[in-house]
Amino acid sequence: MKEGFAIERFVFRTAGETHGPGLVTIVEGVPAGLPVLAADIDRELARRQVGYGRGERMRIEKDEVEILSGVRFGKAMGGPIAMLLRNRDWVNWQGKMAQTGDGEGVPKLDTARPGHADLPGILKYAHGDVRNVLERASARETAARVMAGALAKALLRELGVDIVGHVLSIGEFRVPADVGGNRVAAARAEGSPLRMADRGIEAEVMRWIDGVKEAGTTAGGVVEVIAGGVPPGLGSYVAWDRRLDGRLGRALMCIPAIKGVEVGGGMGLAGMPGIDVHDEVFPGGDPAVRLLGKYLLPFHRKTNRAGGLEGGMTNGEPVVVRAAMKPIPTQSVPLRTVTVDRFEASTAHRERSDVCAVPAASVVAETMVAIVLADAFLEKFGGDAMRDILYNYTGYLRRICGE
Ligand SMILES: Cc1cc2nc3c(=O)[nH]c(=O)nc-3n(C[C@H](O)[C@H](O)[C@H](O)COP(=O)(O)O)c2cc1C
Repeated sequence: MKEGFAIERFVFRTAGETHGPGLVTIVEGVPAGLPVLAADIDRELARRQVGYGRGERMRIEKDEVEILSGVRFGKAMGGPIAMLLRNRDWVNWQGKMAQTGDGEGVPKLDTARPGHADLPGILKYAHGDVRNVLERASARETAARVMAGALAKALLRELGVDIVGHVLSIGEFRVPADVGGNRVAAARAEGSPLRMADRGIEAEVMRWIDGVKEAGTTAGGVVEVIAGGVPPGLGSYVAWDRRLDGRLGRALMCIPAIKGVEVGGGMGLAGMPGIDVHDEVFPGGDPAVRLLGKYLLPFHRKTNRAGGLEGGMTNGEPVVVRAAMKPIPTQSVPLRTVTVDRFEASTAHRERSDVCAVPAASVVAETMVAIVLADAFLEKFGGDAMRDILYNYTGYLRRICGE
């Protein structure tokens, strides 16, 4: 099983349809000895499910993982970890999603919803029913990624890395500029129904989302992920496909509805003079920043416009990445489109839908960043077993921190 160029050690594959019996995730590369608890995975699944603006499905379903393999007495054994997430709504869909029979009597979806996989999907796979596309293209699949991400986060926790995913903006509403890239400030978003760190504007943003819903349309926004406690030297400059900024960009772009990705100052840097962009380096470590809770780097910086990435490698500063989510494509006021058999004028059908899923997208972004960083740690420090990874990582920190 190979996930492509970017993720080669912490490899995962998901399977399942949005209204099928369930979603399955198989993760390879989880080191033996890593603590794995279903409760930790469920907590991440719950974080993805909350958020103001979600559709009715989030109210009827509470996601809970069933771990099928690879874990014994609360720890990974080193083999593939298979996880099942049952779709509780399956009972209502058994007829429409039957695996046998000829589908007689089941109405076909014959219009393509703009902004979805529907139109290119039916053409590519020679389907006559849009449901065959949307069932797999649905962002329900991101719940299966979150299960893999929970394991990646568990690994990163053991390595002293903390990761925060939060919402920078919804529509025109933005958290204050100093929250961006600041993981202490960003952590205030946890528990907020909008996953925004500015509780002062919460009520106003929720009212605005209500108005968007009443108008029959949807909202987008920008999410940010900040990973702290990351050592310099993950990723590499020696080959294009080992550059970590590229690997992170790909992982974020692969999230449904993400249309733009930035690293650090991102697009904003392009118009600035270089002297105001590059992060100067000063001697001596910042005592507040200790890798693995102990090791002090022999230098520090006062700015992090690079988002913790230089030359395709982490540089010891927090990794800061952002992703822009387009407004949800399904609208209550249906968009104009064509039928998929004769390409005649029609309007898009409406599948049960969210109005705003930016808070959930921040959790999915956190998941994807965690997976890429876990993969990069395994690339640098190897390891079938947790104790070997920690041994290798500690040896590296001793070398670069001069102990
Ligand atoms: C967490 C999350 C939830 C989403 N929920 C919905 C939804 O309820 N309705 C919808 O039309 N699109 C939803 N989307 C977006 C679509 O899945 C996505 O726009 C579509 O699959 C087309 O992919 P693309 O936007 O990457 O081109 C959601 C995306 C995410 C990340």
